[in-house]
Amino acid sequence: MATKTERKKTEMTEADAGRVFIFDTTLRDGEQSPGCSMNLEEKLRIADALEAMGVDIIEAGFPIASNGDFEAVRDVAGRVKDATVAGLARASRKDIDRAWEALRHAARPRIHTFISTSPLHMEYKLQMAPDAVHDRMVESVAYARNLCDDVEWSPEDGTRTEHDFLCRCVESAIKAGASTINIPDTVGYTVPEEFHALIDMLRNRVPNIDKAVISVHCHNDLGLAVANSLAAIRAGARQVECTINGIGERAGNAAMEEIVMALKVRGDAMPYHTGVVSENITQASHLVSTITGFRVQPNKAIVGANAFAHESGIHQDGMLKHTGTYEIMTPESVGLHKSTLVMGKHSGRHAFKAKLQELGYVLGDNELQDAFQRFKDLADKKKDVYDEDIVALVDDQMMHANDRIRFVSLQVIAGSRGPQSAELELNIDGETKTNKSTGAGPVDATFNAIKTLFPHAAQLQLYQVHAVTEGTDAQAQVTVRLEEDGRTVNGQGADTDTLVASAKAYIHALNKLLVKREKSALSALSA
Ligand code: KIV
Ligand code: ZN
Repeated sequence: MATKTERKKTEMTEADAGRVFIFDTTLRDGEQSPGCSMNLEEKLRIADALEAMGVDIIEAGFPIASNGDFEAVRDVAGRVKDATVAGLARASRKDIDRAWEALRHAARPRIHTFISTSPLHMEYKLQMAPDAVHDRMVESVAYARNLCDDVEWSPEDGTRTEHDFLCRCVESAIKAGASTINIPDTVGYTVPEEFHALIDMLRNRVPNIDKAVISVHCHNDLGLAVANSLAAIRAGARQVECTINGIGERAGNAAMEEIVMALKVRGDAMPYHTGVVSENITQASHLVSTITGFRVQPNKAIVGANAFAHESGIHQDGMLKHTGTYEIMTPESVGLHKSTLVMGKHSGRHAFKAKLQELGYVLGDNELQDAFQRFKDLADKKKDVYDEDIVALVDDQMMHANDRIRFVSLQVIAGSRGPQSAELELNIDGETKTNKSTGAGPVDATFNAIKTLFPHAAQLQLYQVHAVTEGTDAQAQVTVRLEEDGRTVNGQGADTDTLVASAKAYIHALNKLLVKREKSALSALSA
């Protein structure tokens, strides 16, 4: 696993005309996907992964949107050293002040401010005339620039904006102090040729355009977000906004891993490059899908489970003769290593620590001791311990570290005769409680027991089981999504027993709800 200290940081100089800046918005636009909420600790883990992979700009949130967003931007800003940290703000002083408050201690802060410029958005959403939108934009960019040296401006719904008005606004935004102009395809409507022509048009018609970096932000409603982003790069854009696994509103945003690898693999056709360490892609993808519960489709480019699998005889034969016959990039180039069975119940602490480092984890002494014990327990139950098992085990440990409600034990009666029942023991705030419940199946019985021990009104929105490796002794990784009073949380649990993993995932989601409840109560008190 490459780290930021090993990577060569490409200097962002004019001489390096082919350098494309990667602006990751997983924590802001990605988090706007319904059901995709992340807590502070999870956002910090993702920010660390993004920085380690060499992302240039991390958009950490929309500080005025909620206290949670504010804290996330503030804490990411305080932690990240190499990358620029951006916070989003509408065209208002209140938004910009709040964004600056969150960003001010960042090593490299950026205020990203936006206002809609398309006729549809101006008339119906903003109910403002174009001149008023223009003037509001100039005022807000200038205001942001007084606070922060690095200001990005976006005309929302840019691809459906009338060209003369777009040119006028872009020119004024640059005059007012914006050093990045981001053109969003907010509704995923454009097509590559049209978007290329739009960027070309801006470069030809806006007189001061050379004073700013042109950025693009493409949504994937027609499945064209990556193609549109690449077309824009060919036309002169030098920043792309994207998310890990392409998560985001509706059909999502342009997928970072696809853009990075398209530029890397097809440097002959597209002579541009990014500063992203592509070997970190798989780990980042896995982290985001585990935290959000948004599993990656198996045939997804670069990070899908089948992206490097060869099933048909003809392909397998070709691969044996020369891997280049059916592989245009190596699995290793995206950080995918063949699962090697190097760990087993006789492996010692040193070997385990080395394996964790190879997988990108650095644990403190106590955490390491805990993880090692869990590994030994797993190795006792499971014949083969693969890298994926160790990742699931450590993720599970890290996610449950601060839980108030803790899983102790579970005994289940399942099968066709019924009634299916679950006898569950939990530790709630230090007190051990037990309950035996029945249900329509063992999962239902287990969840009923949890509800009896910890009564709550949250609704189950998602229950998802994923096998970490192959084989009937594989660990199950379960995601449970709960919703209560508009608050959504995702819980995860992993275990060789699917029902234990299910109980752990439900309990994890409840723990996260408790934290959210406490935070809402605190902010209601201080309001
Ligand atoms: O899609 C969009 O238009 C956005 C802007 C705020 C950049 O996310
Ligand atoms: Zn967007």
